[in-house]
Amino acid sequence: MPIKNPGEIETVLGQDFRIERIVGFGNYAEVYQAVNQDNGDKVALKIYSRPINTFVRKLIDNGHKIRSQHPEIPNNRLINPFITELNSATPRVAYNFVDGVSATHQSDTAIDLTQQIKYGRSLALNTATTLDPLKNNGLIHRDIKADNIQIEPTLAHATLMDIDSLIEEGNQPDTGEFTYGTSLFMSPEQIIHDSHISPASDMFNLAATVTFYHLDWETAAIIDIGTMTTNPSIVFKKRIGSSITNSVEKQKRLLNLDRFPEEVRDQAHGLLMFIIAGLQPDPKARPANSTEVKQLLDSTRNATMYCGPVTFSI
Ligand SMILES: Nc1ncnc2c1ncn2[C@@H]1O[C@H](COP(=O)(O)OP(=O)(O)O)[C@@H](O)[C@H]1O
Ligand SMILES: [Mg+2]
Repeated sequence: MPIKNPGEIETVLGQDFRIERIVGFGNYAEVYQAVNQDNGDKVALKIYSRPINTFVRKLIDNGHKIRSQHPEIPNNRLINPFITELNSATPRVAYNFVDGVSATHQSDTAIDLTQQIKYGRSLALNTATTLDPLKNNGLIHRDIKADNIQIEPTLAHATLMDIDSLIEEGNQPDTGEFTYGTSLFMSPEQIIHDSHISPASDMFNLAATVTFYHLDWETAAIIDIGTMTTNPSIVFKKRIGSSITNSVEKQKRLLNLDRFPEEVRDQAHGLLMFIIAGLQPDPKARPANSTEVKQLLDSTRNATMYCGPVTFSI
């Protein structure tokens, strides 16, 4: 399906929108900045240009239904569709537009490690803060990753994009063998399709995202990030087999801060403490909310190493 050009008019349930520019490409859809022709509002228009099967359609429908049941979660935390047309050849959805850049883009613009660590800390804390109301309402996003996080220009907060995979804890649609999420960031419990996933899975996704986007090569090597693949079963074996998190020897190497410039060592330490805690295989051992994430980020260098119990088993 060709990309829409600026000026083209697209209709969602009879409402006209004028395309201004493309802002995102995904697996199934393109997202455009567009203008509501009736009131001049800036909107994000997601057009599913690749065919989606009944199963994916059901997932999207489910995510949208759950979102509509939680109007108390602000639109600048979790995007909110206001017109949805799923039953057409090219399903389309209009959302409130969220200013800023995706965390992927922000990470690309970091000029040095100092800035990378600053961005990583802000991503960790702001996204954890945004996840608090989801957790309090028993919701799981299931696809937390840099592409799905929009960072507000002053770094003051993060907004979650992509509600297609949103589910309620304890009310998971029957997904059979299907694993939902993005392999690289998935928690062990997401990779094993019949195990219980929970809001703690989002925390793991967040820690994996920060690890992948905001760390230096040496840290990535210790965590084995470089050898990860997008094949879920291989990612899974690495996660469990070489779990960074409960090997004291690996933690010592991780927390040896000589590789960071002196002036960011404290901040780097806090970020690593968050990563170690967030990547715990046992969901209960991960930070539960933004308060705990903040404590980890603020932890001082002589804090005891984080070493949760290893209780996850296949
Ligand atoms: N409401 C929005 N406001 C601004 N940008 C958006 C909005 N929704 C999506 N985007 C941009 O489009 C990209 C893809 O959107 P997303 O919903 O994640 O699509 P996909 O399901 O194809 O991954 C996002 O990474 C973001 O940069
Ligand atoms: Mg996305």
